Amino acid sequence: MKQEEFEQAIRGLPFKESAFFESIGSTNDVIAEWASQGVKGLSIAAADEQTSGRGRSGRRWFTPPGSALAFSLLLDLAPSFDKAFLGRASGLGALAVNEALEKIVLQPEIKWPNDVLVDGKKVAGILPEAHWSGERLQALILGIGVNIAADSVPPANELNFPATSVEQSSGKKIEPGKLLRAILDGLVMWESRISQPSFIDAWQTKLAYLGKLVQLENADGPAVQAVIEGLAEDGGLKMRMRDGELRTFQAGEIQLRPLLTEK
Ligand code: BTN
Repeated sequence: MKQEEFEQAIRGLPFKESAFFESIGSTNDVIAEWASQGVKGLSIAAADEQTSGRGRSGRRWFTPPGSALAFSLLLDLAPSFDKAFLGRASGLGALAVNEALEKIVLQPEIKWPNDVLVDGKKVAGILPEAHWSGERLQALILGIGVNIAADSVPPANELNFPATSVEQSSGKKIEPGKLLRAILDGLVMWESRISQPSFIDAWQTKLAYLGKLVQLENADGPAVQAVIEGLAEDGGLKMRMRDGELRTFQAGEIQLRPLLTEK
Protein backbone atom coordinates (compact mmCIF):
# COMPACT_ATOMS: atom_id res chain seq x y z
CA MET A 1 0.00 0.00 0.00
CA LYS A 2 1.15 3.51 -0.75
CA GLN A 3 1.11 6.44 1.65
CA GLU A 4 -1.65 8.25 -0.34
CA GLU A 5 -3.88 5.16 -0.25
CA PHE A 6 -3.38 4.94 3.51
CA GLU A 7 -4.20 8.61 3.99
CA GLN A 8 -7.33 8.29 1.92
CA ALA A 9 -8.37 5.14 3.78
CA ILE A 10 -8.26 6.81 7.21
CA ARG A 11 -9.80 10.13 6.14
CA GLY A 12 -12.60 11.18 8.48
CA LEU A 13 -11.99 8.39 10.99
CA PRO A 14 -11.44 9.40 14.62
CA PHE A 15 -7.69 8.67 14.91
CA LYS A 16 -5.70 10.63 17.47
CA GLU A 17 -2.33 9.72 15.92
CA SER A 18 -1.53 8.03 12.63
CA ALA A 19 1.60 7.15 10.70
CA PHE A 20 2.53 5.22 7.59
CA PHE A 21 5.94 3.62 7.00
CA GLU A 22 7.28 2.27 3.73
CA SER A 23 9.35 -0.14 5.79
CA ILE A 24 9.46 -0.72 9.54
CA GLY A 25 10.35 -3.53 11.95
CA SER A 26 6.86 -4.12 13.38
CA THR A 27 3.89 -1.75 13.53
CA ASN A 28 2.98 -3.22 16.96
CA ASP A 29 6.32 -1.88 18.23
CA VAL A 30 5.54 1.59 16.84
CA ILE A 31 2.29 1.67 18.81
CA ALA A 32 4.00 0.33 21.96
CA GLU A 33 6.52 3.15 21.67
CA TRP A 34 3.76 5.74 21.26
CA ALA A 35 1.93 4.35 24.29
CA SER A 36 5.11 4.52 26.38
CA GLN A 37 5.43 8.17 25.35
CA GLY A 38 1.93 8.81 26.71
CA VAL A 39 -0.12 8.76 23.49
CA LYS A 40 -3.77 8.04 24.31
CA GLY A 41 -6.85 7.62 22.12
CA LEU A 42 -7.52 5.46 19.07
CA SER A 43 -4.36 5.55 16.91
CA ILE A 44 -2.98 3.65 13.91
CA ALA A 45 0.42 2.79 12.47
CA ALA A 46 0.60 1.00 9.10
CA ALA A 47 3.44 -0.21 6.91
CA ASP A 48 3.94 -1.43 3.38
CA GLU A 49 6.75 -3.75 4.51
CA GLN A 50 7.67 -5.16 7.93
CA THR A 51 11.20 -6.43 8.40
CA SER A 52 10.55 -8.11 11.75
CA GLY A 53 6.80 -8.63 11.75
CA ARG A 54 5.61 -10.75 14.67
CA GLY A 55 2.90 -13.40 14.82
CA ARG A 56 1.35 -15.14 17.80
CA SER A 57 3.34 -17.59 19.94
CA GLY A 58 6.62 -15.88 19.00
CA ARG A 59 6.28 -16.76 15.32
CA ARG A 60 7.53 -14.57 12.48
CA TRP A 61 4.97 -12.72 10.35
CA PHE A 62 5.89 -12.29 6.72
CA THR A 63 5.15 -8.84 5.19
CA PRO A 64 7.07 -8.31 1.95
CA PRO A 65 6.52 -4.91 0.23
CA GLY A 66 3.50 -4.25 -1.97
CA SER A 67 1.61 -7.39 -1.03
CA ALA A 68 -0.26 -7.15 2.28
CA LEU A 69 -2.04 -5.01 4.84
CA ALA A 70 0.00 -4.62 8.02
CA PHE A 71 -1.22 -2.21 10.65
CA SER A 72 -1.63 -1.83 14.38
CA LEU A 73 -4.08 0.08 16.48
CA LEU A 74 -3.89 1.58 19.90
CA LEU A 75 -7.39 0.85 21.16
CA ASP A 76 -9.35 3.40 23.15
CA LEU A 77 -11.67 1.36 25.33
CA ALA A 78 -14.20 3.13 27.51
CA PRO A 79 -13.11 3.64 31.16
CA SER A 80 -16.03 1.39 32.11
CA PHE A 81 -14.55 -1.50 30.07
CA ASP A 82 -14.40 -4.58 32.29
CA LYS A 83 -10.87 -6.07 32.22
CA ALA A 84 -12.45 -9.51 32.61
CA PHE A 85 -13.55 -9.02 28.98
CA LEU A 86 -10.01 -8.47 27.68
CA GLY A 87 -10.23 -11.73 25.76
CA ARG A 88 -12.86 -10.05 23.59
CA ALA A 89 -10.16 -7.81 22.09
CA SER A 90 -8.91 -10.95 20.33
CA GLY A 91 -12.17 -11.19 18.45
CA LEU A 92 -12.45 -7.51 17.63
CA GLY A 93 -9.90 -7.49 14.82
CA ALA A 94 -11.02 -10.84 13.45
CA LEU A 95 -14.66 -9.77 13.35
CA ALA A 96 -13.87 -6.53 11.52
CA VAL A 97 -11.63 -8.32 8.98
CA ASN A 98 -14.18 -11.10 8.52
CA GLU A 99 -17.05 -8.68 7.85
CA ALA A 100 -14.96 -6.61 5.42
CA LEU A 101 -14.02 -9.77 3.51
CA GLU A 102 -17.63 -10.92 3.29
CA LYS A 103 -18.10 -8.39 0.48
CA ILE A 104 -15.24 -9.96 -1.50
CA VAL A 105 -15.11 -13.71 -0.85
CA LEU A 106 -17.60 -16.41 -0.01
CA GLN A 107 -18.04 -17.14 3.71
CA PRO A 108 -14.87 -16.13 5.50
CA GLU A 109 -14.67 -17.75 8.94
CA ILE A 110 -12.87 -17.11 12.21
CA LYS A 111 -10.70 -19.87 13.58
CA TRP A 112 -10.89 -19.03 17.27
CA PRO A 113 -9.61 -16.83 18.63
CA ASN A 114 -8.69 -14.64 15.72
CA ASP A 115 -7.39 -16.22 12.52
CA VAL A 116 -9.49 -15.37 9.49
CA LEU A 117 -9.92 -18.28 7.09
CA VAL A 118 -11.19 -18.49 3.53
CA ASP A 119 -11.80 -22.00 2.18
CA GLY A 120 -10.17 -23.34 5.35
CA LYS A 121 -6.93 -21.42 4.74
CA LYS A 122 -5.62 -18.48 6.74
CA VAL A 123 -5.74 -15.05 5.05
CA ALA A 124 -5.34 -12.83 8.10
CA GLY A 125 -3.91 -12.94 11.61
CA ILE A 126 -4.29 -10.71 14.64
CA LEU A 127 -1.75 -10.04 17.39
CA PRO A 128 -3.30 -8.43 20.48
CA GLU A 129 -0.82 -7.16 23.07
CA ALA A 130 -1.74 -5.72 26.45
CA HIS A 131 0.72 -3.52 28.35
CA TRP A 132 0.24 -3.29 32.11
CA SER A 133 1.55 -1.03 34.79
CA GLY A 134 0.88 -3.15 37.85
CA GLU A 135 -2.89 -3.74 37.87
CA ARG A 136 -3.54 -0.91 35.45
CA LEU A 137 -4.02 -1.61 31.75
CA GLN A 138 -1.78 0.96 30.09
CA ALA A 139 -2.30 0.09 26.46
CA LEU A 140 -4.17 -2.42 24.38
CA ILE A 141 -2.57 -2.93 20.97
CA LEU A 142 -4.18 -4.80 18.11
CA GLY A 143 -1.88 -5.76 15.22
CA ILE A 144 -3.57 -6.93 12.03
CA GLY A 145 -1.98 -8.58 9.01
CA VAL A 146 -3.96 -9.48 5.87
CA ASN A 147 -2.46 -11.40 2.96
CA ILE A 148 -3.62 -9.56 -0.14
CA ALA A 149 -1.43 -10.76 -3.02
CA ALA A 150 0.09 -14.21 -3.48
CA ASP A 151 3.54 -12.80 -2.58
CA SER A 152 2.40 -12.26 1.00
CA VAL A 153 1.90 -15.98 1.62
CA PRO A 154 5.02 -17.49 3.25
CA PRO A 155 6.69 -20.52 1.70
CA ALA A 156 4.95 -23.79 2.66
CA ASN A 157 7.82 -24.95 4.91
CA GLU A 158 7.31 -21.86 7.13
CA LEU A 159 3.58 -22.36 7.57
CA ASN A 160 2.08 -23.63 10.77
CA PHE A 161 -1.40 -23.68 9.15
CA PRO A 162 -2.37 -23.65 5.43
CA ALA A 163 -2.48 -20.08 4.12
CA THR A 164 -3.73 -18.14 1.12
CA SER A 165 -4.29 -14.53 0.07
CA VAL A 166 -7.44 -12.54 -0.63
CA GLU A 167 -6.53 -12.23 -4.32
CA GLN A 168 -5.88 -15.95 -4.72
CA SER A 169 -9.04 -16.98 -2.92
CA SER A 170 -11.32 -14.45 -4.63
CA GLY A 171 -9.74 -14.39 -8.08
CA LYS A 172 -10.15 -10.59 -7.89
CA LYS A 173 -7.66 -7.74 -7.90
CA ILE A 174 -7.92 -6.03 -4.52
CA GLU A 175 -7.44 -2.34 -3.78
CA PRO A 176 -5.69 -2.42 -0.39
CA GLY A 177 -6.85 1.06 0.66
CA LYS A 178 -10.51 0.13 0.14
CA LEU A 179 -10.16 -3.09 2.12
CA LEU A 180 -8.35 -1.22 4.90
CA ARG A 181 -11.17 1.32 5.08
CA ALA A 182 -13.82 -1.38 5.30
CA ILE A 183 -11.89 -3.09 8.13
CA LEU A 184 -11.41 0.18 10.02
CA ASP A 185 -15.10 1.13 9.73
CA GLY A 186 -15.95 -2.22 11.32
CA LEU A 187 -13.32 -1.83 14.03
CA VAL A 188 -14.54 1.59 15.06
CA MET A 189 -18.13 0.32 15.18
CA TRP A 190 -17.38 -2.91 17.10
CA GLU A 191 -14.93 -1.23 19.49
CA SER A 192 -17.82 0.84 20.80
CA ARG A 193 -19.91 -2.33 21.28
CA ILE A 194 -17.23 -4.63 22.62
CA SER A 195 -18.94 -4.96 26.02
CA GLN A 196 -22.36 -5.82 24.58
CA PRO A 197 -23.76 -9.33 24.11
CA SER A 198 -24.23 -8.53 20.38
CA PHE A 199 -20.43 -8.51 20.03
CA ILE A 200 -20.12 -12.10 21.26
CA ASP A 201 -23.10 -13.15 19.11
CA ALA A 202 -21.56 -11.64 15.97
CA TRP A 203 -18.15 -13.23 16.67
CA GLN A 204 -19.74 -16.61 17.42
CA THR A 205 -21.74 -16.73 14.19
CA LYS A 206 -18.48 -16.49 12.24
CA LEU A 207 -16.69 -19.27 14.11
CA ALA A 208 -15.16 -22.00 11.99
CA TYR A 209 -15.93 -25.58 13.13
CA LEU A 210 -18.81 -24.47 15.40
CA GLY A 211 -20.56 -27.60 16.71
CA LYS A 212 -17.86 -29.79 15.18
CA LEU A 213 -15.27 -32.13 16.60
CA VAL A 214 -11.77 -30.64 16.39
CA GLN A 215 -8.31 -31.42 17.68
CA LEU A 216 -6.95 -29.28 20.54
CA GLU A 217 -3.22 -28.91 20.74
CA ASN A 218 -1.34 -27.37 23.59
CA ALA A 219 2.29 -26.99 24.52
CA ASP A 220 2.36 -29.49 27.35
CA GLY A 221 0.24 -32.48 26.60
CA PRO A 222 -0.99 -34.83 23.90
CA ALA A 223 -3.61 -33.47 21.48
CA VAL A 224 -7.20 -34.24 22.49
CA GLN A 225 -10.47 -34.04 20.60
CA ALA A 226 -13.48 -31.98 21.64
CA VAL A 227 -16.58 -30.33 20.15
CA ILE A 228 -16.76 -26.51 19.86
CA GLU A 229 -19.86 -25.40 21.79
CA GLY A 230 -19.44 -21.63 21.38
CA LEU A 231 -18.02 -18.56 23.06
CA ALA A 232 -17.99 -17.74 26.75
CA GLU A 233 -18.83 -14.21 27.90
CA ASP A 234 -15.16 -13.35 28.29
CA GLY A 235 -14.28 -14.46 24.74
CA GLY A 236 -12.99 -17.87 25.84
CA LEU A 237 -13.93 -20.99 23.85
CA LYS A 238 -16.38 -23.48 25.37
CA MET A 239 -15.50 -27.04 24.44
CA ARG A 240 -17.34 -30.28 25.19
CA MET A 241 -14.66 -32.80 26.06
CA ARG A 242 -14.88 -36.50 25.19
CA ASP A 243 -15.87 -37.36 28.78
CA GLY A 244 -18.80 -34.92 28.60
CA GLU A 245 -17.16 -32.18 30.68
CA LEU A 246 -17.64 -28.59 29.45
CA ARG A 247 -14.39 -26.63 29.62
CA THR A 248 -13.56 -23.06 28.67
CA PHE A 249 -10.17 -22.24 27.18
CA GLN A 250 -8.56 -18.84 26.86
CA ALA A 251 -6.60 -17.56 23.84
CA GLY A 252 -3.04 -18.80 23.99
CA GLU A 253 -3.89 -21.98 25.91
CA ILE A 254 -4.77 -24.13 22.93
CA GLN A 255 -4.55 -24.28 19.15
CA LEU A 256 -7.40 -25.67 17.09
CA ARG A 257 -6.85 -28.08 14.24
CA PRO A 258 -9.61 -29.42 12.04
CA LEU A 259 -9.79 -33.20 11.92
CA LEU A 260 -8.53 -34.72 8.70
CA THR A 261 -12.02 -35.33 7.38
CA GLU A 262 -12.57 -31.55 7.48
CA LYS A 263 -11.10 -29.08 5.02
C1 BTN B 1 -0.76 -14.34 13.84
O1 BTN B 1 -1.69 -14.84 13.22
O2 BTN B 1 0.18 -15.02 14.26
C2 BTN B 1 -0.79 -12.85 14.11
C3 BTN B 1 -0.20 -12.06 12.99
C4 BTN B 1 -0.23 -10.56 13.23
C5 BTN B 1 0.52 -9.80 12.17
C6 BTN B 1 0.34 -8.31 12.30
S1 BTN B 1 0.96 -7.42 10.90
C7 BTN B 1 0.81 -5.93 11.74
C8 BTN B 1 1.24 -6.17 13.17
N1 BTN B 1 2.68 -6.03 13.33
C9 BTN B 1 3.27 -7.18 13.66
O3 BTN B 1 4.50 -7.34 13.86
N2 BTN B 1 2.35 -8.16 13.75
C10 BTN B 1 1.02 -7.66 13.50
